Amino acid sequence: MIEIQAVSQRFDGPSGPVDAIRDVSISIRKGEVFGIIGRSGAGKSTLVRTLNLLNRPTSGHIILDGQDMTSLNAESLRKARRHIGMIFQHFNLLSSRTVYGNIALPLELAGAGKAEIDRKVRQLLQLVDLTALADRYPAQISGGQKQRVGIARALANDPKVLLSDEATSALDPETTKSILDLLKKINQELGLTIVLITHQMEVIKMICDRMAVMEAGELIEHGSVLDVFRAPQHPVTRAMIGDVISQDLPKGVLQRVRARLAQTREGEGQDHLLRLAFTGTEVEEPLLSEVVRRFGLDFNILHGQIDEIQGQAFGSLAILATGNKDEIEQAKAFMRSRGVTVEELNHVIAVD
Ligand SMILES: Nc1ncnc2c1ncn2[C@@H]1O[C@H](COP(=O)(O)OP(=O)(O)O)[C@@H](O)[C@H]1O
Ligand SMILES: [Mg+2]
Repeated sequence: MIEIQAVSQRFDGPSGPVDAIRDVSISIRKGEVFGIIGRSGAGKSTLVRTLNLLNRPTSGHIILDGQDMTSLNAESLRKARRHIGMIFQHFNLLSSRTVYGNIALPLELAGAGKAEIDRKVRQLLQLVDLTALADRYPAQISGGQKQRVGIARALANDPKVLLSDEATSALDPETTKSILDLLKKINQELGLTIVLITHQMEVIKMICDRMAVMEAGELIEHGSVLDVFRAPQHPVTRAMIGDVISQDLPKGVLQRVRARLAQTREGEGQDHLLRLAFTGTEVEEPLLSEVVRRFGLDFNILHGQIDEIQGQAFGSLAILATGNKDEIEQAKAFMRSRGVTVEELNHVIAVD
């Protein structure tokens, strides 16, 4: 559906060239929600701008539905871009136009007739549940409602793909969820392919099928969301998943854990923060008590969560285990032999 082939993007910065993207290749399938995550400055926005050729890549190709976007002249590119919808963090609505007028704009630009525009806008208003607010101006609606307008506008020309660059980053958690639910509904009902850029793992977890992680312009990891959450390979990915845990821990608990882990680093303590990940619904209590019996460890459960990822139950537990190095290593091997992914998060949580 979308082939990003060996794309690199170099900018001339004030202090020399900046390689915003280095040799990134990703293959996005028709009908999936594909997430691209990375920290600030990783190159996500540059990549998404390259996807619709707002940036022409320094090298590499973007193939959309069999068409090499990088080879098109300006006129063909303008046409091809109509097949790409885009939504943004700050919505980018025209303040002088009503909700209706904002959604109608791309249809007007494409030269649609008045009746056709009206039919389409009404249909979109219904899809995003804004019929009652059609005559309001952007200043008179909430952030979540503005993003719904943004989504309706992006869908006006029946795109083949919807690009979302941090579309929920300016919204509170509850509104974020309602927008992600809407995107999922659109993905399922219209079969629309969605490429979603975010710096939040929560967002990826909620609606993506597959994902890629970017760091310093490079693609460092990709795969199904379930596989990446179960067994993240790259330290940056592990750190991002670990961040979700430290954000959820009460401040006092986090401080105490950090103090204990700092001792371990200095060779005095014996504390290890382990993240256990498993599929299936059973909480791994029996396994943990067996670990305690067999290896003489002591542990505290700090954080536990059962999520649904791509329709599968997925659990994670963060435990603070206390024991000597051998005991910890044996316990880790034993849990792994029972199909649980175990990673050590000391380095992730220990730093502020
Ligand atoms: N037009 C540009 N000119 C020079 N440098 C740029 C330009 N656009 C982005 N960059 C640089 O490229 C890197 C990646 O930026 P960006 O794609 O915005 O990251 P992200 O969206 O992941 O936060 C940053 O170092 C940024 O400063
Ligand atoms: Mg960005």
